[in-house]
Amino acid sequence: MSLVRQKLERLKVGYRDSGLFGFAQYIGRVLISSICDYQVQEVRGRVGKDRDAVLALPADASAINCVLLEPGQSIRPFAPEFLQPFRDSVESLQGRLDHGCALILARRARHGGTGTEIVGYTIMELGGFSAAGIKGKISKEILFIHYTEVAPKFRGQRIAQVLARVIYDYARKRGNGNSCTAHKPGNLQSERAFRRKGSGSKLLCYAVRASFFRGLFVWHTPVSKIERAIASLDTRVERAGDSKTTSAQLTNEA
Ligand SMILES: CC(C)(COP(=O)(O)OP(=O)(O)OC[C@H]1O[C@@H](n2cnc3c(N)ncnc32)[C@H](O)[C@@H]1OP(=O)(O)O)[C@@H](O)C(=O)NCCC(=O)NCCS
Repeated sequence: MSLVRQKLERLKVGYRDSGLFGFAQYIGRVLISSICDYQVQEVRGRVGKDRDAVLALPADASAINCVLLEPGQSIRPFAPEFLQPFRDSVESLQGRLDHGCALILARRARHGGTGTEIVGYTIMELGGFSAAGIKGKISKEILFIHYTEVAPKFRGQRIAQVLARVIYDYARKRGNGNSCTAHKPGNLQSERAFRRKGSGSKLLCYAVRASFFRGLFVWHTPVSKIERAIASLDTRVERAGDSKTTSAQLTNEA
């Protein structure tokens, strides 16, 4: 659907749901965002040496099997297991792999059927950074977690914790153990999942981007400032094990 049709569709929905007030509200929002668009995200980090701070796994964690895909690998063998609605399509996830990201797929046995299905995933990148529309590169030693999603039907079952365990192992094996991510303040589900006691997650800084007149003037937090805040994470962590660890070794074994 074209952008104009999408906007018209939203206008119709606003009018249908809230009458003239909904219509005026939508027009007001569009006008304001064309003059000024403001985004803010919290950048949070976790120190690799806090091994013991890793979240306790849920009781039925063994039902979840995590597969790690390294940059450049193919997700296609797992395509038939994508049965749940996710933000990213298989094609767009393949695009992330092709552009230097690694993926973790959380799989479990299908309810009432044979075989397994994907119930969640994480997109992560060593040295990548992206928040509030600000993109850049940080130290290759630090793992940036771009996005984690658990399918709506499986939320609230601590699957994010199972993924977090694999993320932290990957950060230790491929980088210096430190990891960071960005969240929209007010995303209650992710706040509850990732700030839970024992997660070791610390607020490092805010990433802010303000754009005026549809991007004619843009101001954002300099990536160098964000990198300094991320670098303030304690990097005194011993690199764990052999960097040639295979996906099988990273599979959740709890
Ligand atoms: C954030 C997310 C990955 C957490 O995954 P999860 O495996 O459900 O995490 P948890 O089981 O620890 O649940 C976290 C919180 O979600 C909420 N929750 C519980 N059941 C839920 C359900 N059925 N539906 C929606 N949210 C639910 C609860 O507030 C829960 O915290 P609590 O148990 O302490 O009250 C998941 O909610 C999600 O995919 N959200 C949409 C995408 C997103 O926002 N990703 C984060 C940005 S990187």
